[in-house]
Amino acid sequence: MQFTYQTQLPAAPALGALAVFVSDERNAVPTALSAGLRRDIKRVMDLKEFSGKAGQSRLLFPADGKPQRLLLVGLGKAKALTREALRRAAGSAAGQLADFNLSLAGAVLPKTGGGVPAGDVAGVVAEGMALGAYRFNTYKAKAEDEKSRQHLQRITLFDPQQVSSRAAMQQGMVRAEAMCLARTLGNQPANAMTPTQLAKEAATVAKRRGLKFKALERKQLEAMGMGLFMGVAKGSRQPPKLILLEYRPRGATRTLAIVGKGITFDSGGISLKPGANMDEMKFDMCGAAAVLGAMDAIGALKPRVNVIGVVPACENLPDGEALKPGDILRAYSGTHVEILNTDAEGRLILADALAYAVKTYKPDGIVDLATLTGACVIALGHYATGAIANDEAFQAQVVASGKSSGDTVWPLPNFPEYEELIKGKYADLQNVGAREGGAITAGLFLKHFVGETPWVHLDIAGTAWGVKNVGHVPNEGATGVGVGLLIDLARQWGDKR
Ligand code: BES
Ligand code: MN
Ligand code: ZN
Repeated sequence: MQFTYQTQLPAAPALGALAVFVSDERNAVPTALSAGLRRDIKRVMDLKEFSGKAGQSRLLFPADGKPQRLLLVGLGKAKALTREALRRAAGSAAGQLADFNLSLAGAVLPKTGGGVPAGDVAGVVAEGMALGAYRFNTYKAKAEDEKSRQHLQRITLFDPQQVSSRAAMQQGMVRAEAMCLARTLGNQPANAMTPTQLAKEAATVAKRRGLKFKALERKQLEAMGMGLFMGVAKGSRQPPKLILLEYRPRGATRTLAIVGKGITFDSGGISLKPGANMDEMKFDMCGAAAVLGAMDAIGALKPRVNVIGVVPACENLPDGEALKPGDILRAYSGTHVEILNTDAEGRLILADALAYAVKTYKPDGIVDLATLTGACVIALGHYATGAIANDEAFQAQVVASGKSSGDTVWPLPNFPEYEELIKGKYADLQNVGAREGGAITAGLFLKHFVGETPWVHLDIAGTAWGVKNVGHVPNEGATGVGVGLLIDLARQWGDKR
């Protein structure tokens, strides 16, 4: 989606559609609109069909056709407005605009209020609108009646009160583009988004943003002793990759490492998953997608902090060479792990990636994102990402970044009692605990591989896809969760020195 920023709002805008945000107050009708349009809006409000409540919208057709369509979008109470509420309203507006037969539309920025700094409004609205208009239709032929139809390509943001700026809008565009990249990587089927393709996508991001890029191959990884990662990768013909991206700006003193699970398809391996919904396991690389998306935006927004992106990528398949339950593997860190279930593969590849990141880059903080456990979906559903951490202060920073970006994070307990469940019978550790508390034991498994480095694990199994009824998120497919959180975390780190 392209955006234009304009302060002048014509009295009779010659547009196919104009979206107007209206807050839930008396006299909330935006004063920048012409008297005629204000009267139209007042009429629907008098009919009590639209009050400006969050989630509400109404489409009007002004008599003079200027604009041809006026889309009213509720913001809720001005005082209670948050970034996420504004993002959702903007997303729902753009979702509707994208269904009209139009290539160009406009939107009038609200004056703001509540918890959204006025200057940020254009950014949050652009982000929300670009996300709301996102469609994944790469593989769909256009129906006959669709062929002559126009598609929304450009939105003009009108800022008549000049509360915000073009620069803010552009930041929002960069963020949304990165989130949409993550969505598309996730939505691509596993036969297209192989580990090799994921590495190519990372190389493209690196080239565009001037980042350092490297992908380590099977031979090197074996020689390095990445026994857990290679154990999982053995079950597939697709060559595994350890994807490494480095963003190192001038003057940065601290280093943040971000690690994403890149299982491009998870069949479960020899501990094969049941058939129902197994297709969804193409999304098992959404942690990797979040890391690549975040690196893309970070490379453009340039916070003053080193950021290292690490993605272990492979398939989990039941080949003749595949891991078997009972196998014992030696991790990159030297720890031995007994495999009790080959479907608990994410923690294996992440363990080696985390240990490698800690040793190689000596980061001041490390965050991993993974579609790690079905148990997390059972615990939290689709509206919060679960967290396990070894450092409360760092976890609080991650939670705060999730709040500003709309990627809600919910900490899970890391009590030592849970650790007992993954102590191994025949090795140091075993790769599964009990069914109960599965999201916690999975997280605590990873804790063994980060040493003293402040670390937060984010289980995005519930939030990476399958989210419904959130304005800027499609009801089908990958959400792009984690990208905004990582961008905001990097900026938080970049501000402090
Ligand atoms: N990728 C899955 C987790 C998953 C399952 C995410 C369903 C989203 C929806 C992961 O690799 C896995 O299979 N985890 C197992 C762990 C178990 C064997 C201890 C699970 O959650 O069932
Ligand atoms: Mn699995
Ligand atoms: Zn998995």
